[in-house]
Amino acid sequence: MVAGNWKMNKTLQEGVALATELKQSVKNPKCAVVIGTPFIHLATVAELLKGTPVKVAAENCADKVSGAYTGEVSAAMVASTGAEYCILGHSERRAYYHETPEILREKVLLALENNLKPIFCIGEVKEEREAGKQNEVVKAQLEGSVFNLSAEQWANITLAYEPVWAIGTGLTATPEQAQEMHAYIRSLIAEKYGNEVADNTTILYGGSCNAKNAAELFANPDVDGGLIGGASLKAPDFLTIIEAR
Ligand code: 13P
Repeated sequence: MVAGNWKMNKTLQEGVALATELKQSVKNPKCAVVIGTPFIHLATVAELLKGTPVKVAAENCADKVSGAYTGEVSAAMVASTGAEYCILGHSERRAYYHETPEILREKVLLALENNLKPIFCIGEVKEEREAGKQNEVVKAQLEGSVFNLSAEQWANITLAYEPVWAIGTGLTATPEQAQEMHAYIRSLIAEKYGNEVADNTTILYGGSCNAKNAAELFANPDVDGGLIGGASLKAPDFLTIIEAR
């Protein structure tokens, strides 16, 4: 899979223009293609891309079912737009909006209940990597929010390993660092759900992945694609990354 995460970029009109470019260019991709857009784009972009290989993701959903939660958008609302995926646990949401493992566990469950497929993000910060604690951190993130799922629920989960020090910094993880962590993550899934489930789990890499380095990252056996921020905002770059998978 190659998934874009537009983050808080693009007005509705700019988003529609970018989705239209992708619609015209992505015809027979060799992998799943998803774009994560702001909530306000979802309905329009999902309609525009209906019947094409490009699927749509929200970048978040509420941790509550419905009711008096001003400004929030529920998983049911996201699903009603035609979006099929929901990015959850992004480090920006953990850091700036104080999303805890418990909150994320609720969000994942609500997304699944509403037939949305979570793209669940995990990854360590720079200090944790410098202290050699990256494996510990990632394991705790999985245990805190998604290892409670049944094997049946797990089949709908995509993981994205996004080392926080690599996001938007230009400091991409080396292919070796990515492979090492992805293999570790897969071993944890195998311990929990068995080898077959682990082999079938899509684990994306995210963090300064771009048109130049994508092929090298995707060449690793445990790197099943990418979650792309900045480089997903320009159609030619995003298309090159899709081609690289
Ligand atoms: P960049 O590709 O801009 O580093 O962002 C990665 C990311 O956070 C995707 O979710």
